[in-house]
Amino acid sequence: EKDVINGLPLYNKKVLITAGPTYEAIDPVRFIGNHSSGKMGFELAKAAANLGGHVFLITGPSNEQISNSLIQRIDVVSADEMYNEVHKYYKSIDIAILSAAVADYKPKNIADKKIKKSTDSLSIELIKTQDILASLGKEKTTQFLVGFALETNNELENAKKKLNSKNLDLIVLNSLQDAGAGFKTPTNKVTIIDKSENILEFNLKSKAHVAQDIFNEILRTIYA
Ligand code: CTP
Ligand code: CA
Repeated sequence: EKDVINGLPLYNKKVLITAGPTYEAIDPVRFIGNHSSGKMGFELAKAAANLGGHVFLITGPSNEQISNSLIQRIDVVSADEMYNEVHKYYKSIDIAILSAAVADYKPKNIADKKIKKSTDSLSIELIKTQDILASLGKEKTTQFLVGFALETNNELENAKKKLNSKNLDLIVLNSLQDAGAGFKTPTNKVTIIDKSENILEFNLKSKAHVAQDIFNEILRTIYA
């Protein structure tokens, strides 16, 4: 097997991928989450392994399954847990792709007992989670860092802002405009922007093919 993967472009490279949603606990039985399925991140992990890379897949709660000797799956629940796991590996990583739909806010306090129904309205105070991607941008040395952007308006402008403010090498813009693209679908439509603000628009296609497009761009940029 070694001889076969030896010639592959990611042979001996370490690839970190985040996937899925995060769940932020409100009390022992409730959480704040989102509809991310994790599919895009899992397809990225498979694509990286097919290119010979050693993959660390750090994922929030997802029904996706994966079995590949080159992929090490690390399950987490909350944004804080994802942050900690990502930082355990980042120093030795060659390529990091953060596709997780991380919660931006979490409850300030987690009730230790189930919150009982009483008043007609209930407010839960939320505080910001740590921005995992931005923290990697700050610590970046030799890593090639890729982020995602989910936008509904001013898409390109907002994506470029994230590329620059988070110190990324590439950003993948997810278009929610098109039917068939987004959280629960097996397909996706993306636009990839690099540091020189070259813009590459792709057609709607399966998330497996989107993952291949993303690695083509990463490899092209690294070896350009
Ligand atoms: N991200 C992260 N940690 C967070 C929030 C986001 O690592 N706490 C990452 C996502 O995985 C994605 C990128 O940052 O790669 C952009 O996420 P997105 O939600 O589009 O942007 P935000 O920076 O969170 O800004 P906003 O939601 O306000 O658009
Ligand atoms: Ca966000």
